[in-house]
Amino acid sequence: MTAERTRAILLDLEQTLLRFIRKHRVTHDEYRCATNILLASIKAGEGSLLCDVFFEAEVTNSANIGGGWSTEAIEGPFYRPNAPRLEAPYVLPHRPGESGDVLFFRGRVTSPDGASLAGVELDMWQADAAGLYSNIHPNIPEWNLRGRFHSGPDGTFEVRTIVPPPYEIPKDGPTGVVLNTLGRHFFRPAHLHMKVRHPQYGELISQLYFDGGDYLDSDVANAVRDGLVVPLVRRDDPEDLAARGLRKPYFEVCHNFILVPHQAEAVRRRA
Ligand code: BEZ
Ligand code: FE
Repeated sequence: MTAERTRAILLDLEQTLLRFIRKHRVTHDEYRCATNILLASIKAGEGSLLCDVFFEAEVTNSANIGGGWSTEAIEGPFYRPNAPRLEAPYVLPHRPGESGDVLFFRGRVTSPDGASLAGVELDMWQADAAGLYSNIHPNIPEWNLRGRFHSGPDGTFEVRTIVPPPYEIPKDGPTGVVLNTLGRHFFRPAHLHMKVRHPQYGELISQLYFDGGDYLDSDVANAVRDGLVVPLVRRDDPEDLAARGLRKPYFEVCHNFILVPHQAEAVRRRA
């Protein structure tokens, strides 16, 4: 971000907020109430949660104008860098007997002209069957259901994990106060998070939701977009199950990613 753009955005933000205060004739008490919520959310470690619930999805709308590449999604507040690098065959780290139905997530990564991209890093994170994230919520082993793996020579990848449920975002803190005041619920639809990286391409933040799942139309973060909702297919063929060493049906999700070369990305973001 250039200094010129930073200055232009800051000036406009200042003017927009001043207009807002004039429009609503905001009183001193109301002003202090608003700044206290912001300060309380930071103090409670919810600064990112509060912002991401209300604003991050709109940022992805700006990024997704145009098209021809994979839809960008929100990152949310629960990403943690430096997740363990996994060895093939890829399985997200999990506890013995981790709850939840087995899920295989597979796909292919290409450039916009359809060429396979090998060695792409997929950095994946998700909630467990109780809707909780490791490295965020207590009593879950570090890096549980978080890991990094790579596409193979033909651009394809496959990882084994569990099907996450819809979950409620934390509701006992300042973000909860704001959502309660607005009369909104706290649920996000079930989803998988991933960042997709290759040195010659712009990093893609993605997130996949399951077709037919609850809360797709009323996500508290308003972040569900066409192109991010995928079928969750149930597989129960006995021979297939035996070959995979599974005793129960499993689920499968397929999704392909198209990465934008750095140069094209710079043009796209200026457009
Ligand atoms: C999440 O997907 O983890 C998330 C996104 C926005 C707000 C809260 C949580
Ligand atoms: Fe999430």
